[in-house]
Amino acid sequence: MSFTNEKSYEKILNSILRLWDRQEDFNFYIALMSRQFAFEFNHSRRVAYYAVMLGDYVGCNSRDVAKIGAVALLHDIGKMNVPSTILYKQGIYNQAERATVERHSVYGSQMLLCSKQLSELALPVLSHHERWDGTGYPEQLRGQEIPLAARITHIAEAFDVMTTIQNYQSLKSPEEALDELKRFAGSQFDRTLVNAFINLESSFLESGSLPVYHTATGSFR
Ligand SMILES: [Fe+2]
Repeated sequence: MSFTNEKSYEKILNSILRLWDRQEDFNFYIALMSRQFAFEFNHSRRVAYYAVMLGDYVGCNSRDVAKIGAVALLHDIGKMNVPSTILYKQGIYNQAERATVERHSVYGSQMLLCSKQLSELALPVLSHHERWDGTGYPEQLRGQEIPLAARITHIAEAFDVMTTIQNYQSLKSPEEALDELKRFAGSQFDRTLVNAFINLESSFLESGSLPVYHTATGSFR
């Protein structure tokens, strides 16, 4: 299976879901997120799109690509355990609030460990905010100590946040977001993966078919 030739986001998402369709617990969590946690789930679907394409591009086999997609879809599921008054607070978090929000990766991994079917996703979900230089959380893992699926999800998530989510920073164009990833390659992000992501996205940019999510239409181009 090649994901990079599939330009349609829905086809890619469906490919992940098909590969995991005998995983009842996976379907349960997907249904839970999509119904109860729509904003995060839409973000996660976009992250899964970029993560799957990057995993495929760097040569992962189809099972590992599906696992990367599943990690990306469920990476923020632990946010369901964070009080919504904190999670959706307008403005900057104070120290205690930030610590509470950052617990989401631990909560997510604990949820996944409850399921025999999904326990293999627990470690990458736990590590999706670790940074290449060891300054991330929760365990300050560094370099290749961080699971590949977590390193890929971290890049995919950063790209999506920069290009689609309006928070305290202004939205960036895809080109600006790629520049930003490059700036933090080797510190925040795995440099090899960032270079691969830039090559992948640049090939779409050059051909004028960059698959970027458009908030106005709610779909990828
Ligand atoms: Fe997260």
